[in-house]
Amino acid sequence: MYTNKTTQFYDLVIFGAKGDLTKRKLLPALYKLEKKKKIFKNTRIIGIGRANWNNSEYSKIVKENLLNFLDCSLDENIWKLFKSKLFFYNLDINNTSCFKQLKKILDTDSNITIYYFAMPPNTFEIICKGLGDSHLNNKNTRIVIEKPIGDSLKSAKIINKKISKYFKESQIFRIDHYLGKETTLNLLSLRFANSIFFNNWDNKVIDHVQITVSEKVGIEGRWKYFEKTGQMKDMVQNHLLQLLTIITMSPPNNLEANSIRDEKVKVLNSLRLINNNNVNINTVRGQYSSGIVQGVKVNSYLNEDGVKKNSRTETFVSIRTHIDNSRWEGVPFYLRTGKRLPIKCSKIVIFFKKTPINLFNNSFINIPENKLTIRLEPNEGIDLQIINKIPDLQSEYLLDKVKLNFDYIHTFPKNSLSDAYERLLLESMIGNQSLFVRHDEVEASWKWIDSITNSWSSTNQTPILYKAGTWGPGEISDMIINQDKRYWDNF
Ligand code: BG6
Repeated sequence: MYTNKTTQFYDLVIFGAKGDLTKRKLLPALYKLEKKKKIFKNTRIIGIGRANWNNSEYSKIVKENLLNFLDCSLDENIWKLFKSKLFFYNLDINNTSCFKQLKKILDTDSNITIYYFAMPPNTFEIICKGLGDSHLNNKNTRIVIEKPIGDSLKSAKIINKKISKYFKESQIFRIDHYLGKETTLNLLSLRFANSIFFNNWDNKVIDHVQITVSEKVGIEGRWKYFEKTGQMKDMVQNHLLQLLTIITMSPPNNLEANSIRDEKVKVLNSLRLINNNNVNINTVRGQYSSGIVQGVKVNSYLNEDGVKKNSRTETFVSIRTHIDNSRWEGVPFYLRTGKRLPIKCSKIVIFFKKTPINLFNNSFINIPENKLTIRLEPNEGIDLQIINKIPDLQSEYLLDKVKLNFDYIHTFPKNSLSDAYERLLLESMIGNQSLFVRHDEVEASWKWIDSITNSWSSTNQTPILYKAGTWGPGEISDMIINQDKRYWDNF
């Protein structure tokens, strides 16, 4: 049986202890794991950064962060336990002797040691080298690294290769936080524990699939990162492609990390590449202009602090793609994601094919399709649209669409949905790699992304403006409505 009990001593060493990710995500998640009694008693959480803090100064700072970023109140008893695990170590990643000193406080021979790189990717190599040269990379050690792993296939390969000089693939945990969301995990049970879906999940029964990840926020001051990245590399290369692979992969042999990852890689390698000739009909790039998002007036992207006045970075992407294998031949997949859209929402909608004949032609000429909506966030749950007879005494069948609905809040009122980082930190401590991305997954996804971004630049495609607070450029309707005679699933 699957168990998530931790059984061994471990040290969690966080490089980038002073950074935003640590403050906003890692510390609150660790505190909540403490509250849920998931952290082993003798664990040490060692923050690493450039500061002359002693442990008690560090604890004070951590407490301030928790008070700012926890979405629940801070319980003093839990805090006492948590505080006893906190340590700080002043280390310059460019100075090899610092790593030698670090070795004196770590015991990688008997403890599991997890190094979390909450640092920009250009520091990964130097940290790995520091750890490697000081023999802090033996089989009891793991590294957890954050995206972006490169910005193209070429750079991703270079990063993977550099890291692999010091750590084996079984020691490397590449984070995509969408994989830690409860509703993403449930995609496996939905698909593979229910015979109705297990047996009806291919081009014979499915017409098309839509994946939408919309955000209300803009770039939140992260212009340095976003100007170079854009929505395509920030969201599609990782989160949307992960959702797409889980929803389309063939059943893995078992739930082992490599069985699942093997199937995901096959999908990524079957994604039809986009080229200069078809990039314009299969993709839409957008950039927000000023507008109103839920009653609040917001600036255009070009007026965000730090953004170049002639920036061509996209904040919205919509793509129609195909998976060239026998399961999905002929089924289009529509992806869309953007910032400054009307609401925050992630959902996957599976449109089933219509019935081959309409027996109810007299009373209902155009019977709608069955539609399975997986609400990843918010209002987490799943609903299935079916067609039902309206009860009455008329002899002809009057029909209407109805929904069979499941939502987490009502069905599992006592089980709150954990934050993705709680889950991922816990899994990295347990050593389960199935929720982390393997090197070949990263590379295969970049290969497809490169085909689009390279076609955008060689055809000189610029983003189309859309008003903040709307669903992106009108051109996305052209792709789905005019060309394909389908419609976007509305909210
Ligand atoms: C991050 C992106 O990976 O995901 C952000 O860098 C984005 O730009 C965020 O806002 C969205 O995550 P979530 O969990 O809020 O949907």
